[in-house]
Amino acid sequence: MELPFAESYKMKVVELIQRSERCEREEWISIAKYNLFNLRSSQVFIDLLTDSGTGAMSDKQWSTMMLGDESYAGASSYYKLKDAIRDITGFNYFLPTHQGRAAENVLFSALIKAGDIIPGNSHFDTTKGHIEFRKAHAVDCTIDEAFHIELNHPFKGNIDLDKLENVLKKYPRKRIPLIIVTITCNSSGGQPVSMDNMHAVKILADRYGIPVYFDSARFAENAYFIKLREEKYRDKSIREIVREMFSYSDGMTMSSKKDAIVNMGGFIGFKHKEHFEKSSTFNILFEGFITYGGMSGRDMNALAQGLYEGTDFHYLETRINQVAYLGKQLRDYGIPVQFPFGGHAIFIDAKRFLPLVREEEYVAQTLGVELYIEGGVRGVEIGTLLADRDPDTRKNRYPELELLRLAIPRRVYTNNHIDYVAAALINVFDRRNSIIKGLHILKEAPILRHFTVELERV
Ligand SMILES: Cc1ncc(COP(=O)(O)O)c(C=O)c1O
Repeated sequence: MELPFAESYKMKVVELIQRSERCEREEWISIAKYNLFNLRSSQVFIDLLTDSGTGAMSDKQWSTMMLGDESYAGASSYYKLKDAIRDITGFNYFLPTHQGRAAENVLFSALIKAGDIIPGNSHFDTTKGHIEFRKAHAVDCTIDEAFHIELNHPFKGNIDLDKLENVLKKYPRKRIPLIIVTITCNSSGGQPVSMDNMHAVKILADRYGIPVYFDSARFAENAYFIKLREEKYRDKSIREIVREMFSYSDGMTMSSKKDAIVNMGGFIGFKHKEHFEKSSTFNILFEGFITYGGMSGRDMNALAQGLYEGTDFHYLETRINQVAYLGKQLRDYGIPVQFPFGGHAIFIDAKRFLPLVREEEYVAQTLGVELYIEGGVRGVEIGTLLADRDPDTRKNRYPELELLRLAIPRRVYTNNHIDYVAAALINVFDRRNSIIKGLHILKEAPILRHFTVELERV
């Protein structure tokens, strides 16, 4: 008999979570103005809002925290992290930051000015926010296949090289300070970018003399998909694949809260000293001295250890199989989910799930609210609210895909929890024809509105 799949870790500490009644959840979500970010975590039974900073650290990570060196300058924890980053990514220069968007803030302060054009695959919302905050423009060059939700393509995060080259031809070199490739591509469904594509983007970028940076929050999950789906990498280790991936970039921004399995932290990796030095000034200004940059010594220790654990094949196999376990249950029931399944989350096509709710009534947010009311499960909208308004016209941008994302925290939930989530969503699916009205906005912020938006039922 073939041995069944099982987790590559066991539990040493548990955290209690509490179920609630449907009538309580109806009241709580109304007080939260139908914004799932406004709920208290105690009002949520299974929290799939994000996989960011919500993972469970290992015994080794907790123990190395005790050895943290909290010196302001030159701490041994900084050097430990520097060594780990060099070992895993190959980058000789790095700056610690307190999280991923802080890395974006520092790097973009050094590289981007008003009117610039930043092409890439679908930029993540904070990345786009930091670009648009500087009055620059993010251009999405993702392959068209990414927007066909059930089309079976192994690398839906890939950049369309023709689209990219058109942008590089259209604008002068001095208006394109960098290209950003997000691995895996969160905004198009946690979909990976192939090694071939990374290589081709780098060759093209070099021809135009433009640096390439990877938004690398889920670089290890990307490497796992390369190993599984790109024939010539089948026999390579995850770490070999990771090193080759980063060799096709000039640097990286990292939200360590994902694939490095820490609760807080980030960094920027640089190939070139010049970018490192230019960014260092902004790091000191916004984050802290260059040898701690917004992180405590103990957190740098945990991050250094997490980089190794997050690039372990067996861990990645456990993780990605758990995400697929949820996806398969939903797909088998006929729920429209993105396929192939992404690395960190399952994305539900809200427009097909709730066909009676009008586009301007925030369909994916409506689905998220219904799922919360059904079972106390919290997901997140990746749709019109997140896409925000066009910075010039201030009109709603309607993205090609209106998705509800169920992101799975790393090493946190068991497959029983996953079964519960599937059952709750199936119940909503069974009553989908009774859901005909969505939500409208009462109040919103001028940028990154989805975090704080207030809504009411139509
Ligand atoms: C692809 C990507 N880039 C950047 C970020 C921002 O990272 P942070 O939340 O650590 O600021 C995220 C967060 O989810 C992300 O998914």
